[in-house]
Amino acid sequence: MDLKHLVPDYIQHYQSYVPSKPDQELKQLYGCPVLHRLNNNENPLGPPPAAQAIVRQFPPAKSAIYPSGDSYFLRVALAEQFGKHPEQFLVGNGSCEVISSVLKAFCERGDNIVTADKTFAVYEWVAEFSGFDRRLVPLKDFAFDDEGLLSQIDVRTKIIFICNPNNPTGTYWDRDRLIRFLNQVAGRCIVVLDEAYFEYVESNDVPDGLSLIDQYPNLIVFRTFSKMYGLAGLRIGYLAGSREVVDLVRRAYVVYSVNTIAQAAASAAVRQGEDHVLATRALMREGKAFLQQALNSLGLTYLCNAGSYVMIQVPLSDTLLYRKLMKRGLMIRTMTGFRFPNWIRVTVVGVDILQQLVDALAEELKPYSGL
Ligand SMILES: Cc1ncc(COP(=O)(O)O)c(C=O)c1O
Repeated sequence: MDLKHLVPDYIQHYQSYVPSKPDQELKQLYGCPVLHRLNNNENPLGPPPAAQAIVRQFPPAKSAIYPSGDSYFLRVALAEQFGKHPEQFLVGNGSCEVISSVLKAFCERGDNIVTADKTFAVYEWVAEFSGFDRRLVPLKDFAFDDEGLLSQIDVRTKIIFICNPNNPTGTYWDRDRLIRFLNQVAGRCIVVLDEAYFEYVESNDVPDGLSLIDQYPNLIVFRTFSKMYGLAGLRIGYLAGSREVVDLVRRAYVVYSVNTIAQAAASAAVRQGEDHVLATRALMREGKAFLQQALNSLGLTYLCNAGSYVMIQVPLSDTLLYRKLMKRGLMIRTMTGFRFPNWIRVTVVGVDILQQLVDALAEELKPYSGL
């Protein structure tokens, strides 16, 4: 049966993303008994202890009961934490889910979104498979180019996506630059500020998007529990904005998508996650200092900025290096898909595992760089 006539053009031509195989399969495939995941920026410390206790103590009988359809108690916890109203939050099955809701709420055929060419690709993917145009502005000095983004806005531009700090380069706009940009956009379109890695930034100049949502009703901030709060496996993230903008996005959102354990664990993380944030930041500082020193002595070019990851330029195909490192039980992220051919991205983890990575790089790169 030919189903093609049922499918819009933009779906027919869209190539779906293939996630990596389960660890068990990969270990067999590459013949490695242990696999260290340095590919997804997961938190090596796991979730905060209070969130771990929620998962451990979850009464199995509660699995038969639907969760709160709008993550009521989590939104109350977020509102208290950030001094906002619960209606200013919309919780999703990972922040990836709320990306879709924002696009559905604001875009129709012929509209476009604007973002960078080398950033978190889901903004561009969702636009593409939803049939909207996407305009990709090249990074400038590895950072989002404000002038370039502004020059792409037209009457059909509905959303600008800014990843701050940017995944994968770790660069970010400071508060002044963001405010200047928001003033220049002047309410012409929605500005999404994806702060998936916000909690990792220790410098004072990083803008806190939540402090700007009341002043800029067209600003939407994304946050996730997948990174700093170590709940990636439970799939939970959220957006925040003015009540007006959140009410619009809510219309394009399917309720009950966030499960009970995720909601409760995230609430515990919000209320009792402070020590965990400090411990994770300390681990990041140690890991980054170690990597910088090691990569310098290997003579490699790298970007070690904000966020929980480091990008490294390598003298061979990133996909070939991926296979070589997999055989040694080290899973990194190839960057060709991010339009950075022959770069890899590595999650910062404990120094013991980073040492294994550095040793593996030294050996595998020897034939290529005369190390
Ligand atoms: C910049 C950025 N935004 C959003 C996400 C998605 O997060 P979630 O797991 O909440 O869907 C990621 C995950 O890698 C990310 O890097």
